[in-house]
Amino acid sequence: SAAEKGGWDSFMDKEIHEGPAAVQRTLLGRLGKDGNLNLDEVRIDEHDFKAIDKIIVIACGTAAYAGMVAKYAIEHWVRIPVEVELAHEFRYRDPILTPRTLVVAISQSGETMDTLMALRHAREQGSKVLAICNTQGASIPRESDAVLYTHAGPEVAVASTKAFVAQITAAYVLGLYLAQVKGAMFRDEIAQALDSLKDMPRKIQWVLDTQTKTVHDAAAQMVDAKSFLFLGRHVGYPVAMEGALKLKEIAYTFTEGFAAGELKHGPIALVDEGEPVVFIVPPARGRNVLHAKVISGIEEVKARGAYIIAVAEENDPDVERYADVVFWRPACPTLMSPLVDVVPLQLFAMDMAKLKNYDVDKPRNLAKSVTVE
Ligand code: AGP
Repeated sequence: SAAEKGGWDSFMDKEIHEGPAAVQRTLLGRLGKDGNLNLDEVRIDEHDFKAIDKIIVIACGTAAYAGMVAKYAIEHWVRIPVEVELAHEFRYRDPILTPRTLVVAISQSGETMDTLMALRHAREQGSKVLAICNTQGASIPRESDAVLYTHAGPEVAVASTKAFVAQITAAYVLGLYLAQVKGAMFRDEIAQALDSLKDMPRKIQWVLDTQTKTVHDAAAQMVDAKSFLFLGRHVGYPVAMEGALKLKEIAYTFTEGFAAGELKHGPIALVDEGEPVVFIVPPARGRNVLHAKVISGIEEVKARGAYIIAVAEENDPDVERYADVVFWRPACPTLMSPLVDVVPLQLFAMDMAKLKNYDVDKPRNLAKSVTVE
């Protein structure tokens, strides 16, 4: 009903706007006063945490993209390998699991059968499973050894939005906690990462307050486009995949998301006059070598007549030069950028679907939680 939507005309719209609160609530109570992370709720003792030498994230869809983002951060922070695998693939390939492997099952609903079957398999092999879940008491957290809840609040729209940013937040908290327990980072480095994380709700809000109109105008202009390519590198790669998934799901547009470095290995053949290509551009500051590489990717597709939509840091002069449309992000560390960069892409998919008069909250052929294998 209209009341349930709290004044928004769809649940998706409401839930995208709840992104800042979702991140904030997911951090709440987990950051100790002394700069230490407190994860007693997780119920895996410190000794077991210390022994973990590998993480495997299992999930599907959007939750798997959140896991891909987390891989970049956790490997960087904790210096242990993190694999991310679609739960349905993981389960049937005889994965290598030991008691020192931590399997992290990410699921908004907590009822995704593919993920549930995969976690059962992992536990049978003697690995510990930690669930990152948005639904209290659902099957996945119930059957896991431990759970870290995302406090995004109920998500109703089939297209997952606020849960994605909450999942990244929870996975980052887990990563920094592991770094703390294993002594993989200095205390002040952990504190600094947590400070950046705490800043993100405000930055997401800035995107919602200032970029919505640009996104809407871009959607209106591109509503008839038959396909879109989404490209990104590093953490921008899973964001590109997620942006592509959103547009498929609710606007029924053919999209492909891939690593920008792959362009010359094949996908650039798809680029023709007027083809819309969305680039996630990493921050230019510091010694970010990837920025220049993404910009040169933009130049290459631009030379072939592509229509460039960029998600980029405010005042990035290179982006201003080449992009036809820019969704700006406020300055933030690269590892934090997915939390803001996904937001205009969520809005863009929603606007496209609305302009086409589709049911944004209940897209055809899809269910909110997929409870069959
Ligand atoms: C996201 O927009 C999708 N509807 C879908 O990919 C979803 O993320 C996936 O089915 C996993 O669901 P879960 O998080 O409830 O396990």
